[in-house]
Amino acid sequence: MSATTETPRMATGASVYDPEHKSAGAFEPELLRRLWGYVRPYRRYVVASLALLLVTQAAGLGLFFLLRHAFDVHIEPAQFEGYTTVLAGLLAISVVEYLARRRQVWLLDLAGQNALLDLRRDLFRHLQRLSSSFFDRTPIGKLVGRVTSDIEALQEMFSSGVVTILGDFVLIVALVVFLLVLDAELALVSFLIIPGLLGATIWARRRVRKAYQTMTSRRSRMNAFLHEHVAGMALVQAFGREQIAKDEYGSINAEMRDAQLDAVTWESFLSAATDMLSAFTTALITWYGARLILGDVLLGARPDLTLGTLFLFVFWMQRFFQPLTDLSLKYTVMQSAMTAAERIFRLMDVHEFISEPTEAVELPAARGEVVFDDVRFAYGQGEPVLHGISFRVRPGEKVAIVGATGSGKSTLQKLLTRLYDVRSGAIRLDGLDARQYPIAELRRRVGVVLQDVFLFEGTVLDNLRLGHPEISEADAIAAADRLGLDRIVKRFARGYREPVSERGKNFSSGERQLISFARALAVAPPVLVLDEATSNVDTETEELLQSALKELIRGRTALVIAHRLSTIRDADRILVLDGGRLVEEGRHEQLLKRGGRYRELYDLQYRDQADAATS
Ligand SMILES: Nc1ncnc2c1ncn2[C@@H]1O[C@H](COP(=O)(O)OP(=O)(O)OP(=O)(O)O)[C@@H](O)[C@H]1O
Ligand SMILES: [Mg+2]
Repeated sequence: MSATTETPRMATGASVYDPEHKSAGAFEPELLRRLWGYVRPYRRYVVASLALLLVTQAAGLGLFFLLRHAFDVHIEPAQFEGYTTVLAGLLAISVVEYLARRRQVWLLDLAGQNALLDLRRDLFRHLQRLSSSFFDRTPIGKLVGRVTSDIEALQEMFSSGVVTILGDFVLIVALVVFLLVLDAELALVSFLIIPGLLGATIWARRRVRKAYQTMTSRRSRMNAFLHEHVAGMALVQAFGREQIAKDEYGSINAEMRDAQLDAVTWESFLSAATDMLSAFTTALITWYGARLILGDVLLGARPDLTLGTLFLFVFWMQRFFQPLTDLSLKYTVMQSAMTAAERIFRLMDVHEFISEPTEAVELPAARGEVVFDDVRFAYGQGEPVLHGISFRVRPGEKVAIVGATGSGKSTLQKLLTRLYDVRSGAIRLDGLDARQYPIAELRRRVGVVLQDVFLFEGTVLDNLRLGHPEISEADAIAAADRLGLDRIVKRFARGYREPVSERGKNFSSGERQLISFARALAVAPPVLVLDEATSNVDTETEELLQSALKELIRGRTALVIAHRLSTIRDADRILVLDGGRLVEEGRHEQLLKRGGRYRELYDLQYRDQADAATS
């Protein structure tokens, strides 16, 4: 099986996914095809909606013919016998039109919303499968933008566009034919206006489109900025960056407004111009028709032309303009929807996954042996971070990993759980290459406590059982109690059900660490890789954490990326990393005596801890 995580698609490198990419037209067949894939399961709603659209249009036609009848037979000759029946007919048709339209819009939305639900779900699932290297180089704000604002753009397309855009087309063509049949002369006169209308529309449409593109990219920049600054607000405040951030946000914001105003300018031009042309055409026909009916020297007389027909014409011309206006407005909606769809599908086309093993192999019994065999690694296209690391951890052994910051300690952890894959060499768990374990199984066998503790919104208990609904509440609580978390939890009003806010920011860093210990213990993995957090906590919490750590790693293989002297001293063996190389290994006293890299580290980092402990 392949040693890398990269599928052939990735071969072209990081340029494959560019979140800002935009090039879609309003009706990109490929994009429409893929979108249709999501609508397809709900196509019966679409079909029903289309059928109702026909009913609506037919009712509209019926309404006008009945109106003409009212004019020619009743109003003009002042003949009101049977007029009530006509009025009743008008009323009945209006009600039918209302009901059909209501249902039609609703059905279409039903299909659209369901399709979007599926798309959002797929997108999220896709994001979850992407490997860490993808997230390293893609701003979170932009990814969140895909799932929120891009989906929203599609939403707008469904609730205002697709099928009705088709309906508009049909209606326009039908009206042209009807008007010609009804009265060719009047029709041709009124069509005079069309070239001007089309010209203005196309011209303004181009500008609207440009403005929309600018707007989308500026919005995503604004979102990314906002996301980063809200997430890092404490830092912004601590470093007094408020003014700078405010100015920067202000200018991004102003650019956003300008782009938006630009779009609004052209859009308002478009709808105002169509309205004006519509009024102009109405005036033209009324004038022209009136001359014909009255008999004009130049135009001649048309005795066949009735007032009803003229009335009908004026009405229909308005009906003709409305879909035309709609069409140009919907076009812009369609355009941003296509841009959004393209970006969504581009993201879905990123196949940067950590690959599951292609063939099933028999898994060894879990004993907890970990072997690193000449492991080399680099992040992305960057410099190598690990240069051939080899070591073996026996089942049940407690190994401390020490090294200066940036020496590659956390990287070892990420490789062992396959957040990234090694570039060369191998990591073996109980004799089997880590890449031959199904990923879920590997992550069951190797538990982690990360350096940056991350808690999710919910309760303490939810966080203890994170992703493992099979762990009963009682077991989770028992694990937490064993670590002494009960001593902290009893201070909370709601105990283990104390709410945790986003990222766990309502907890102290010591509390968060304890929770993350308990979370790992609840899963009870045979191997545990623990990245000790470097945060300072008070002596009492420190003691609690130390004893919790001992309890946590008892009876299992443990690799502890250690920052505490006590952890290092208790370890069976210490691995000393320096610049991505394993430079020393042994026990604390041995290494101290040797006077090598460990001694240096000790003097620089751990001495103080030792002094503090003895004083
Ligand atoms: N996601 C990443 N993308 C690119 N480079 C990275 C990434 N994570 C770490 N690195 C680089 O890899 C090197 C090793 O990082 P690592 O996190 O393993 O250090 P560490 O030994 O855990 O340090 P610390 O003690 O500060 O936690 C560093 O030079 C770091 O800049
Ligand atoms: Mg680290």
